[in-house]
Amino acid sequence: MRLAPSILAADFARLGEQVTDAERAGADRIHVDVMDGHFVPNLSMGPAVVQSVRRVTRLPLEMHLMVSDPDAFLEAFAEAGSDSLLVHWEGNANLHRTVQRIKALGKRAGVVINPATPASVLEEILVEVEQVLVMTVNPGFGHQHFIHTTLPKIRRVRRMVEQLDRPCDVEVDGGIDATTAPLVVDAGANVLVAGSAIFTDAESVAAAMKRLANAE
Ligand code: DX5
Ligand code: ZN
Repeated sequence: MRLAPSILAADFARLGEQVTDAERAGADRIHVDVMDGHFVPNLSMGPAVVQSVRRVTRLPLEMHLMVSDPDAFLEAFAEAGSDSLLVHWEGNANLHRTVQRIKALGKRAGVVINPATPASVLEEILVEVEQVLVMTVNPGFGHQHFIHTTLPKIRRVRRMVEQLDRPCDVEVDGGIDATTAPLVVDAGANVLVAGSAIFTDAESVAAAMKRLANAE
């Protein structure tokens, strides 16, 4: 199981420090939540933040694009130093084209599905991507409650991925803590995004990550 700390929950005044703490504690990648106030009812960060984070870590940077027109921003995020671009199935009329554009930029492509979206929509796009992100909360905010009905879907996605003859990450995002982490791992997730469970820990980022990794 690998951890992808979501900097949405970080203290932005100490962002560099918090990212290096996560790197030292064994983070697999840094998850960057991009929100446009339209696809989701919240605003977060853009390429300028990614550029700054790129300077302080060697970890892969994955963009979770919660924006209405991802195509308009792919190049800017690629240039800012992103390694993966994750786009939602919802609202994208030409998902295959968006995925090809990500690949043409030389980046890892991933598809994201919301809690109400069935795993079956992945059927035709799975062969094109290196990662699936299953939302375990509705996107837009950190610190929400894990939606337990997404567990059977994670199992379905894992089964679909096993049919491929190459690796494809099954990542989950939202409400992941020491209680829910073992559930999603049992269901077949191999990458866990966690924001508040990592960055709002009273002790430290390292202690929080250890607790998540050891949760049973
Ligand atoms: C929600 C974001 C998540 C969020 C997770 O829209 O996609 O990445 O930061 O936060 P926690 O771990 O606090 O639920
Ligand atoms: Zn996210």
